[in-house]
Amino acid sequence: MNQNSPIVIGCDHAAVALKDIIKAYLVDKAGIEVKDVGTFTADSVDYPDYAVQVAKAVSDGTYARGILLCGTGIGMSMAANRFPRVRAALCSDLFAARLSRQHNNANILVMGGRVIGDILAIEILKTWLETPFEGGRHQSRLDKFDQVC
Ligand code: RB5
Repeated sequence: MNQNSPIVIGCDHAAVALKDIIKAYLVDKAGIEVKDVGTFTADSVDYPDYAVQVAKAVSDGTYARGILLCGTGIGMSMAANRFPRVRAALCSDLFAARLSRQHNNANILVMGGRVIGDILAIEILKTWLETPFEGGRHQSRLDKFDQVC
């Protein structure tokens, strides 16, 4: 995965503020192009509608990687992981963020806006962006995913 490849991002009403913070980091600090599928206001929406847009775009290869945010991150990860080739990782700490890349080659980062603070979210994001996949035995484990979906 190219470290500068564009990112598709989506959230529900519980994480609009976090999405704005993450987008600002990606665009202004990291120089990464972002496609934002919403939502854009605090009006209540259904998180699967946004998970589907981001997961579809990663599943069909339109985007190599994505980010999904909701209150806990749980619903977004459940919905996104239904799509072939999607490996969405819910991360609330730096260790999980690093291992989700090194071992799982996660292509969607999921975080919960009601679970973690903004500064930790940015640190998780940076770790996730900068950590390469290790391949090798981890790739053969990921290959087994294709036997079920
Ligand atoms: C919305 O209230 C909340 O259920 C959603 O943001 C998310 O946490 C679901 O997993």
